[in-house]
Amino acid sequence: MSFNTIYLTLMSVRMAPRLPLIFLLMIHVVSADWGVSYSPSHICALKNSSVIMSCTYTYPTGYKIEKVVWTKNIVKGKESPDLSKDPEYSQRLQYLGDKKQNCTIRLSHVTQKDQHMYCFRFTTDKSDGKWTGYPGVTLTVTDLQVEVPERVTEGHNVRLTCKSSCTLTDRATFIWYRNSQPLTERRDRNNQLLLQSVRREDAGRYSCALHGHTYISPAAQLNVTYPPRNVSVSITGSGVIVEGDSVTLICSSDSNPPALNFSWFKENQSSAVGSGQSFSALQSGRFYCEAHNQHGSQRSDAVTVTAHPGADRNVIVIAATSGGLFIFIIIIILFIKRKMSVKTDLTITKVNHPDTT
Ligand SMILES: *[C@@H]1O[C@H](CO)[C@@H](O)[C@H](O)[C@H]1NC(C)=O
Ligand SMILES: *[C@@H]1O[C@H](CO)[C@@H](O)[C@H](O)[C@H]1NC(C)=O
Ligand SMILES: *[C@@H]1O[C@H](CO)[C@@H](O)[C@H](O)[C@H]1NC(C)=O
Ligand SMILES: *[C@@H]1O[C@H](CO)[C@@H](O)[C@H](O)[C@H]1NC(C)=O
Ligand SMILES: *[C@@H]1O[C@H](CO)[C@@H](O)[C@H](O)[C@H]1NC(C)=O
Ligand SMILES: *[C@@H]1O[C@H](CO)[C@@H](O)[C@H](O)[C@H]1NC(C)=O
Repeated sequence: MSFNTIYLTLMSVRMAPRLPLIFLLMIHVVSADWGVSYSPSHICALKNSSVIMSCTYTYPTGYKIEKVVWTKNIVKGKESPDLSKDPEYSQRLQYLGDKKQNCTIRLSHVTQKDQHMYCFRFTTDKSDGKWTGYPGVTLTVTDLQVEVPERVTEGHNVRLTCKSSCTLTDRATFIWYRNSQPLTERRDRNNQLLLQSVRREDAGRYSCALHGHTYISPAAQLNVTYPPRNVSVSITGSGVIVEGDSVTLICSSDSNPPALNFSWFKENQSSAVGSGQSFSALQSGRFYCEAHNQHGSQRSDAVTVTAHPGADRNVIVIAATSGGLFIFIIIIILFIKRKMSVKTDLTITKVNHPDTT
């Protein structure tokens, strides 16, 4: 403050010929003893935290402080209301200062609704001795959001970021949670969590918080994609083909995204014998499947299918095809015959009808 005064005085000496300017500066020099300073003048606070607004004020000697008031959203020419009388603030506002020079306050459980400019005003025992420290301290309240890449493939590195809408005034340590459990390995730096060579166990819902604060961010899902694993074939029934029936084989796998593309192979046969998640085995042999997704593929162990002698479906199918026409004709004949007998029944009823009435 005193440095300011000296500086302004020097300015006025240098600019001596410019009288109106000197006059302006002189006002400042005279009033330099009246002031409020806020440090810092911009605060970025986490939701639900307590904010200390550090503040000091000065006034010329010979004045006695009568009233100290914090206000918000100052409007020129209007006396802004005392926040300690405002029901939205009275419970949360604590004046830590004094009636001499310290005007610090604490505002607890801040919410987004508290984002305003706050000013300190003091009144002295003399009618000209009033001062409002404008501009005041600007409060911004932020929440935290976890930023996660949409998906990451196993083995790659991934960086999760705990984002706030403004740079937090308090230098804070970040804490990370996966599925609500705090992560103990310290793999984080500033507001980032680095997962190196991601494993599928790293998938989960991540949230972040600040050490010493109650607020926890909403959780964000980390999706780890990976090629098929644990590919296996299950068999319906015993795996024995009886009476020209088939045996159904089903391929299952653990993969993300789920494998939708399956190939079936017969052992010692290079080309695929089928596709799709299930396969009907009509012959004896050892069969295995291969599950694919965009990250890779894996094959299962082989399962054994045995056909009983004489249960070769192919033979039956061929027989059915050649005999098909003959069977069709027989069915048609039977159908026509049945239709005709129904018609005959109807005729009989009609004939009988007049007799009964
Ligand atoms: C003002 O008061 C607060 C709370 O008592 C204290 O922490 C702070 O250091 C004081 N500031 C000055 C400049 O004395
Ligand atoms: C806000 O903080 C208080 C303690 O300071 C805590 O009891 C409360 O649960 C917190 N509320 C939220 C929404 O985090
Ligand atoms: C999948 O295979 C791994 C070993 O590669 C094993 O640890 C895990 O238990 C298997 N999971 C299932 C569901 O079979
Ligand atoms: C992960 O991403 C894959 C590929 O987009 C998707 O198919 C799968 O459903 C996602 N899984 C989860 C748990 O979100
Ligand atoms: C299934 O995977 C095989 C082998 O990678 C590939 O040749 C074929 O085009 C895939 N089919 C579909 C429908 O993706
Ligand atoms: C497939 O070939 C291997 C040798 O390459 C042989 O040991 C195995 O018995 C054969 N399996 C069948 C079902 O023919």
